[in-house]
Amino acid sequence: MIEFQDIQKSFRDRSGREFDALAQFTLHVRSGETHCLIGPSGCGKTTSLRLVNRLETPTRGKVLVDGKDIAQADIYSTRRSIGYVIQSRGLFPHMTVAQNVGLLCELEGWTRAATRARVDELLALANLDASRFRHQYPGELSGGEAQRVSLARALALDPPTILLDEPFGALDPITRSQVHLDFLEMLSQLKKTVLLVTHDLHEAFRLADRITLLNEGRIVQTGTESDLRETPANEFVEQFLSAQHYATGGKS
Ligand SMILES: Nc1ncnc2c1ncn2[C@@H]1O[C@H](COP(=O)(O)OP(=O)(O)OP(=O)(O)O)[C@@H](O)[C@H]1O
Ligand SMILES: [Mg+2]
Repeated sequence: MIEFQDIQKSFRDRSGREFDALAQFTLHVRSGETHCLIGPSGCGKTTSLRLVNRLETPTRGKVLVDGKDIAQADIYSTRRSIGYVIQSRGLFPHMTVAQNVGLLCELEGWTRAATRARVDELLALANLDASRFRHQYPGELSGGEAQRVSLARALALDPPTILLDEPFGALDPITRSQVHLDFLEMLSQLKKTVLLVTHDLHEAFRLADRITLLNEGRIVQTGTESDLRETPANEFVEQFLSAQHYATGGKS
């Protein structure tokens, strides 16, 4: 469904020095799976999502979505087929919840009535009471509510693929746990291909079918929770698992 084929992505820093944010990055995200990208800050997680949505262009290699090289496809139809929740959520502060969620429908030229009906449906899916929230502004929402609104917005055109960049990062543990349940429930109804970035291994184990651990722009290991636990590819994987174990007080 999403295939990264031998991707290299180089950036230049301000002094002109080139470095690889991603190198030898080959990954096949299967249709219908929830796949988590995890790894230390700066390891290339956001960059890999941005490549799928063509916000970045690979220095070398290809990204295929649904078997098609996205570099050859129409950029707008590629983006319409992919829902994207960016790391900072990206809600427009001067627009209400309903305007934010319905934005893509409006850009697609839907009638007002159709957009309104879709917004109500999406808010219900995101477990938000439309009568209470549709006229609120993002600044009037809690972190968890804002997160649900950005998810609802990403789903507006019913894209088969969703990219989520640390969507649950800013939530307290109790809210996060509830949002995880809502998310799993939503996925069971919708059947999407999901590529989700997180820092939190516990979250990855809870939500993902498979996990890819990155370090310094390279894939260290891809597998299920038991693959990582039982056959860690190297010491970095072991250290990552045990560091997270201590960070969560032994709960993961
Ligand atoms: N436009 C850019 N120009 C130069 N360097 C960049 C650019 N975008 C990202 N980088 C660098 O590429 C590397 C990977 O960045 P990326 O945003 O993918 O990391 P990340 O894994 O998402 O980190 P975090 O967990 O902190 O969000 C970092 O070293 C970052 O500084
Ligand atoms: Mg990031």
